[in-house]
Amino acid sequence: MSTVTGSKGGDLWFGASLKLQRALVRRVKDPFVQLLLGDGQADRIPYYDRIRAEGPLFNSKATKSWITTSHPLGTEILRDRTLKMSGLDGKPNGQKVNLKIGWDSSFLTKDAPDHTRLRKLAAPAFTPRRIAEYRATVEKLCHQLIDKVETTGAFDLVHDFGAPLPVAVIGQMLGVDAGDHDYFREHGMVIGELIDGVTSLPLARQVRKAIDAYHGLFDAMIEARRTKPSEDLVSSLGKAYDDGVLTHEELLSLCTVLAVTGFETTVHMIGNTVSALLRHPEQWDRLKQDPGLAPKAIEEGLRWDPPTVASTRVPHEDTEFAGQPVKAGEPLTVLLAAANRDPEVYRDPAEFDIVREGEPDHLAFSGGSHFCIGAPLARMEGDVALRVLAERAPGLRITAAPRRRSSAVVNGWRELPVSLR
Ligand code: HEM
Repeated sequence: MSTVTGSKGGDLWFGASLKLQRALVRRVKDPFVQLLLGDGQADRIPYYDRIRAEGPLFNSKATKSWITTSHPLGTEILRDRTLKMSGLDGKPNGQKVNLKIGWDSSFLTKDAPDHTRLRKLAAPAFTPRRIAEYRATVEKLCHQLIDKVETTGAFDLVHDFGAPLPVAVIGQMLGVDAGDHDYFREHGMVIGELIDGVTSLPLARQVRKAIDAYHGLFDAMIEARRTKPSEDLVSSLGKAYDDGVLTHEELLSLCTVLAVTGFETTVHMIGNTVSALLRHPEQWDRLKQDPGLAPKAIEEGLRWDPPTVASTRVPHEDTEFAGQPVKAGEPLTVLLAAANRDPEVYRDPAEFDIVREGEPDHLAFSGGSHFCIGAPLARMEGDVALRVLAERAPGLRITAAPRRRSSAVVNGWRELPVSLR
């Protein structure tokens, strides 16, 4: 999860008008550039196919990077412990065109040993016992949300159903007071813009303000827990800070990254999967007849239309992949969403089929040491959300064409207008 921004080239790019940007992109024949900045943002699949046609590892000369759409090669890259999250200059992902993250002290962008130390501190929030506790919160909330829209029948599945779930759960996980959840959500959504890169000065200011608000909130919580500790993550992280295990900056970044990485991804998992189900009525019927299929439907939604579409690693020494020499510092990008449709691995990959059997796991949660720490939480939220919808909203239908929110990394619906009847 990383973003378009940063380098001198990037600043020039964002200084250009949209018309000029489009004209420039059209002149570049590289399909990876088209995918990132051109027509590929509207429909990625033809660009994935074009890159796939070039072989397992495509050399994107325009971006001086390597791209794979292959599931086996993608898995190999993500699991390769010699590859790093940071570039040779120490900056996250080292990508020239894109990829710089705004929470540089969080473990998402770090390599071992800091990554291992920080990830270990967050792990207790994701044990099976914890997930079971959050499940009760999600079930209650899903029913409340449906109760709320039952009279009118019309609502936005992204804003009115998907979005409140991760906010409530991550709020509970960190220990944010229920009364502060709106504040927590509003600022979290602004910080979430970092995933796509900050592309204007006003947005940069807004994000800075939101980060300051988050840091203020967490600092106050940490102080309060010193006299009245609780079982939440802020208490255990605050104690680790007092014991000298992590710095103040790392502590605030960790809280922030857990909130923000969990918000948008989970919302899009729910939005993308529900939209796929409603566009494939036979699959929606299957789920309604057997809501126990919800976990499988979520996995298929994550494979078919994942919320996070790419992960990048950087070799710090000259190396070789798929028989091609890769130089130190040249980023390797795994197109997770394309690997999830690798025809060498998945039967009829374009088919949305919630009862697929005997195929390898998708790469929507990445792989290797940076495999999404929130995956069990997201899977549980998706399972509960689909069960509740299948049972309480059997007549659910899309009422207007939804708008896509697409970027180099994030993929989902900005809104998904639906009706219960
Ligand atoms: C459907 C929902 C989700 C998706 C698709 C998703 C996707 C991902 C992906 C692809 C990565 C790896 C990035 C890379 O390899 O470069 C990742 C890492 C991460 N995710 Fe998630 N995520 C989801 C939900 C969550 C939730 C609910 C949380 C937390 C509450 C979370 C927290 C994190 C963190 C902290 C990392 C960094 C892990 C590390 O670097 O060791 N994610 N996620």
